[in-house]
Amino acid sequence: MLNIRPATDRDRDAIWKIFHEVIAAGDTYGFEPEMSREEALAYWFRADTYTYVAECEGEIAGTYILRANQQGPGSHVSNAAFMVVPDARGQGIGRAMGEHCLGEAQRLGFRAMQFNFVVSTNASAVRLWKQLGFKVVGTLPGAFRHPERGYVDVYVMFRSLTR
Ligand SMILES: CC(C)(COP(=O)(O)OP(=O)(O)OC[C@H]1O[C@@H](n2cnc3c(N)ncnc32)[C@H](O)[C@@H]1OP(=O)(O)O)[C@@H](O)C(=O)NCCC(=O)NCCS
Repeated sequence: MLNIRPATDRDRDAIWKIFHEVIAAGDTYGFEPEMSREEALAYWFRADTYTYVAECEGEIAGTYILRANQQGPGSHVSNAAFMVVPDARGQGIGRAMGEHCLGEAQRLGFRAMQFNFVVSTNASAVRLWKQLGFKVVGTLPGAFRHPERGYVDVYVMFRSLTR
């Protein structure tokens, strides 16, 4: 049974473990692979951010954040980021968090969701976001330096949350 809930301070160790593994791989996010625990947790628990974890049998299997993508007149569009424990991928946790996130964004009154930086080679993410209704609205040529593939494109993906 997967329980997706707001993160608490007690989840910080588990979140840092996932975050560190994801950024050390260097193939999905524009974060420095050497980012410190302090910087990472400050980013993930920023004051304007809703932070969630997905818990499975007492273990944290994934985490996501939800926040406004811009301030002021751009604040009705949300932004989110997702990370699943490497060993727990491909079991529906990413999809469950994505669906939960869309529900939370609607509940909080956001009118749309935008992903600013989806690496085009991140096949599971691109496929999942498309399945959840996102469209690629822009391609940033060579905007990501992939550790094996070199300069690869990045997608901006967008989904309305209104009917
Ligand atoms: C992207 C990520 C969140 C997906 O989480 P996940 O738990 O593995 O995803 P799910 O098991 O829910 O799979 C959902 C869908 O993703 C796609 N998917 C999953 N694994 C895949 C793979 N190896 N290849 C291609 N598509 C894949 C499929 O469309 C799958 O749905 P389907 O099996 O019904 O076709 C996870 O892989 C992750 O944390 N990656 C590292 C960080 C990251 O890339 N975050 C997103 C940045 S935009």
